[in-house]
Amino acid sequence: MFLWLLLLMLSPVGIWSDWLSIDMPRYAYEGDQVVVRCSGEENNKIKRLMYYKDGSRISTYYSTSSYVISNARPSDSGSYYCKADRKFFLFVDVTEETRSTWLTVQELFPAPVMTARPLLPTEGNSVTLSCDTQLPSDRSKTQLQYSFFRDGHTLRTKWSSSEFWISALWKEDSGYYWCEAMTSSHSVSKRSHRSYIHVQRIPVSGVFMETQPQEGQAIEGKMLVFVCSVVEGTGEISFSWHREDTRECLGRKTVRSQRSELEIPVIRESHAGGYYCTADNNHGLIQSEIVNITVRIPVSHPLLTISVPGNQIFIGDMVELHCEDKRASPPVLYSFYHENISIGNISVPSGGGVSFNLSLTAEHNGNYFCEANNGLVAQRSEMVALNITEPPVKIRLMNGLHRCEGRVEVEKNGHWGTVCDDGWDMNEVTVVCRELGCGAAKHTPAGMLYPPVAKEDQPVFIQVAMCNGTEDTLAECEQVETFDCGHDEDAGAVCEGG
Ligand SMILES: *[C@@H]1O[C@H](CO)[C@@H](O)[C@H](O)[C@H]1NC(C)=O
Ligand SMILES: *[C@@H]1O[C@H](CO)[C@@H](O)[C@H](O)[C@H]1NC(C)=O
Ligand SMILES: *[C@@H]1O[C@H](CO)[C@@H](O)[C@H](O)[C@H]1NC(C)=O
Ligand SMILES: *[C@@H]1O[C@H](CO)[C@@H](O)[C@H](O)[C@H]1NC(C)=O
Ligand SMILES: *[C@@H]1O[C@H](CO)[C@@H](O)[C@H](O)[C@H]1NC(C)=O
Ligand SMILES: *[C@@H]1O[C@H](CO)[C@@H](O)[C@H](O)[C@H]1NC(C)=O
Repeated sequence: MFLWLLLLMLSPVGIWSDWLSIDMPRYAYEGDQVVVRCSGEENNKIKRLMYYKDGSRISTYYSTSSYVISNARPSDSGSYYCKADRKFFLFVDVTEETRSTWLTVQELFPAPVMTARPLLPTEGNSVTLSCDTQLPSDRSKTQLQYSFFRDGHTLRTKWSSSEFWISALWKEDSGYYWCEAMTSSHSVSKRSHRSYIHVQRIPVSGVFMETQPQEGQAIEGKMLVFVCSVVEGTGEISFSWHREDTRECLGRKTVRSQRSELEIPVIRESHAGGYYCTADNNHGLIQSEIVNITVRIPVSHPLLTISVPGNQIFIGDMVELHCEDKRASPPVLYSFYHENISIGNISVPSGGGVSFNLSLTAEHNGNYFCEANNGLVAQRSEMVALNITEPPVKIRLMNGLHRCEGRVEVEKNGHWGTVCDDGWDMNEVTVVCRELGCGAAKHTPAGMLYPPVAKEDQPVFIQVAMCNGTEDTLAECEQVETFDCGHDEDAGAVCEGG
């Protein structure tokens, strides 16, 4: 009995036996859960269960329990085995041990490699970043998510594609870029190396300025647009516009564009002159050629004036129609209208108005206007009325020896009447003789001297005519209409001619 006990106590302890077995996979991928299960033939006899890896104890349980590697790493690769203390007899325990089992944890995917296409991007162009890695064929369905970073910034996270398209990169976007690939459960994530992307800037060149309207043909009161462009140049370009003479800056704009506009909303005459623009993207300022701005002034207020010889105008008179728009830029085409009918067109190649002479007939009565047109706009003058008076008073000498002697009679509205001799002297006779083309005056006889006397029903038209002797017609002399005069006071005249 003692010997038997002794034998038992000396029996080899820690030798593996079939009583305790280990169950675990031989291969796993990073991120997998790996369960190492050790169990005995009678688990309730296990008092203590110890798990070992590469000879070192990694866990101890006082019951039967599995050892779980929840997120396997390649470093979890190694040789695993268990030892268990089990009740043997009364207070006697024995230690059982499993054989060793080798676990290999393989990389799920290598660290991604980030590449940029194109490798040397120029500003403003698109760039595609690729985050490339490789899943094993038996895990090819594993979903990976990709994130892209620049310096301290996150550009895009949890992107389902390994390619990330950036529509435009600028010089200031130069920097270190990297990416990260991660399983959707976040169990495995790996970063690429950082790669420096240098975004190249192309200096500005071929700066030129245009205008709208083209060729600097500005119109007073209208808008003028200066357009500054570059043939080449990337990134933010600072444009500015200047007057050539004063170098005064009209405006500046900094834009990510090869073209920029400056509007002058209302052009004035003083805007005429030379202009240029400049462009710069921090590689030195480039200036455009000079563009000359000419300011054309549209027709605005043509003025029609009609110069007439006296207060009244008669058939046969010459009148001068003058039309002018003082400010309009030449050449100007002036058109004259009478009662809406064109009567003449005159073009003026340089400044100044135009005149148009009319020898009046009865048909010239009516309304006139002129129109000025310098290709920008046509404008009409105000209407001017021309009121032509019929030659008012005709004159004759009645019952004398010849037509240059006799009783003075004047015609009004188709009726002949006499002139009262109040104040009738040589001045009046001088005018009468001149009007009749009868030479110088000779006498101022009474009308009564030329019988038969005027009929009773014949009117006396003029009470007093006050001529100074220089007038061409009696009608031009100041006159007082009849208030009290009989035919016994009729005036007469004798002229040299006849
Ligand atoms: C602009 O005008 C100036 C003088 O008025 C002239 O010398 C120059 O040749 C003109 N430039 C252009 C581009 O027409
Ligand atoms: C001239 O034209 C205007 C409008 O165009 C019209 O009102 C006017 O009656 C016309 N006059 C004549 C005489 O035709
Ligand atoms: C003036 O020009 C207009 C338009 O061209 C034309 O209709 C008109 O007949 C011309 N007038 C005269 C008097 O020639
Ligand atoms: C119109 O007549 C005036 C004088 O009556 C003359 O000085 C002028 O030259 C004339 N104009 C034209 C266009 O014939
Ligand atoms: C034209 O003149 C006559 C006489 O001076 C006057 O009676 C007439 O009203 C005038 N007509 C117009 C349209 O001015
Ligand atoms: C004579 O009268 C006419 C018309 O009233 C005037 O124009 C002229 O100046 C006068 N001449 C003299 C010498 O008084």
